[in-house]
Amino acid sequence: MPGRLNHRVSYPSAIRLLVVCLALSGSVHAGTAMAADSIEIAVDAARSGAKIDRNLFGQFAEHLGHGIYEGLWVGPDSPIPNTRGLRNDVVAALRELKVPNVRWPGGCFADEYHWRNGIGPLGERPATLNPNWGGVIEPNTFGTHEFMDFVDQIGSEAFISVNVGSGTPHEAADWLEYLTTAQPTALAKERAANGHPEPYRIPYLGIGNENWDCGGNMTPEYYLQQLKIFSRFVRNFNPAQQQDGRRMLKVAVGPGGDGPRWTEWTEVIMKAWQGRQWSWDMDALSLHHYTVVRWPPAYASVGFGETEYAQILKSTLEMDGIIRTHSAIMDKYDPKKQIALAVDEWGAWYARLPGSTEGFLVQQNSLRDAILAALNLNIFARHAERVRMANIAQMVNVLQAMIMTDKEKMVLTPTYHVFRMYVPFQDATFVPVTFDAGTYTHGDITLPRVDAIAARDADGVLWLALTNVDANRPVDIGVRLAGVTPTRASGETLTAAAVDSVNTVEAPTTVAPRPVTASVQGDQVMVTLAPKSVTVLSVR
Ligand code: AHR
Repeated sequence: MPGRLNHRVSYPSAIRLLVVCLALSGSVHAGTAMAADSIEIAVDAARSGAKIDRNLFGQFAEHLGHGIYEGLWVGPDSPIPNTRGLRNDVVAALRELKVPNVRWPGGCFADEYHWRNGIGPLGERPATLNPNWGGVIEPNTFGTHEFMDFVDQIGSEAFISVNVGSGTPHEAADWLEYLTTAQPTALAKERAANGHPEPYRIPYLGIGNENWDCGGNMTPEYYLQQLKIFSRFVRNFNPAQQQDGRRMLKVAVGPGGDGPRWTEWTEVIMKAWQGRQWSWDMDALSLHHYTVVRWPPAYASVGFGETEYAQILKSTLEMDGIIRTHSAIMDKYDPKKQIALAVDEWGAWYARLPGSTEGFLVQQNSLRDAILAALNLNIFARHAERVRMANIAQMVNVLQAMIMTDKEKMVLTPTYHVFRMYVPFQDATFVPVTFDAGTYTHGDITLPRVDAIAARDADGVLWLALTNVDANRPVDIGVRLAGVTPTRASGETLTAAAVDSVNTVEAPTTVAPRPVTASVQGDQVMVTLAPKSVTVLSVR
């Protein structure tokens, strides 16, 4: 690489920590040379790591603000084009993402949800309240059948969270029987009468949500007792589904960050799991962590500058350390990594947009969020042996959304584009990469300048995801490949004029992927990354 320096770099403390952490995972080569404007990435395509589970690209749709109503569901009588009440534009856009699973109905909403309110003729469903999110009326017109139709229409799978906080094991067990049994029970007949004689497939089940807080303020020991009871009685009642190798995976509530409170939570659940008896089990432990910097959320989602860009990205990189903390505890009790860590709520949480309804969690989505999404997806991929599920919060109109709707119009966000660009990484095999990240400094914040992951798909195609965090400087990347002979490379890049560039109804493609020029020279792929950009390349 032109201008490459061959000396040890002295990192400021924050960056040194990060680079050492990443080096432990074998992904970054710390302390070697870097050049001001060029970085070399070594990829040994003959080596392979864990499968990057497609479930890392999961989504989360809660009854919150306009996440469901207006965002997904407009009702069959709406002038907005829809199929059985689900908006066609949103469904078509989500199909492109190959969403592997959708977590529903919450969130905090899940622990106040009573499923019977959401079945039966639309006009006869009771209006209830949504106390968590603005105290608004919940019409229950989007319920069990509408959700299952939705996951079917977008080509996804259901991740249902049952009500542990204010519900009973009986209520949750009945819901699963209603959904899954193939036998002619009263609940199966009711399901058939409501339009679906065939049993549904529920591959993922969440046992509660944040039961340490909005899910009932439980201690870890109290939740553990609930977990044992619910795990015992809330079954997939469909033996045919149990036998096809795709049994229903149960996700237990896990920690909400790091620090003693949260490590104790993981300790209690994992220790009990190790010593469990035959009659209860779990398959994953959840982790919730938002990029928020301070609580209540205060950062603006629009109209911010480079300082807030750097602060938010610094904060988001804490995800790596939090995963490491809980993975280490899980390794102690589960060295074979049977239990997955499911980061089933993550993303940026900013101050609500001025003029939006309190409790509706409406924020804009900028180029910063696209970079934030790529950095987190890269972290999950590096931890793919343990992290086998993740759900960004949330799918439409809420927090770090894929899509924002405005009546009959729809806008794809920068985060949507990253998820679309990363589709080839779903179920691909992680390929270790070695590089010196370099540094990007703004004020007193120093971050790794470049991030990269590589993976090989089922057809043998090598995929590279390259992020230039630096808000101002482009960087020339040389990817040196071993184990494959490249003949061509092509791909797309996502960037825009400013760190706070957004897409709007008036200007929907301000932040949109565009083709990028990459060349092959011998065993190297050469590409220039624009400042503040995410690039995905295929190498054949
Ligand atoms: O995603 C919004 C809320 O954040 C969820 O309902 C809750 O689980 C978390 O605290």
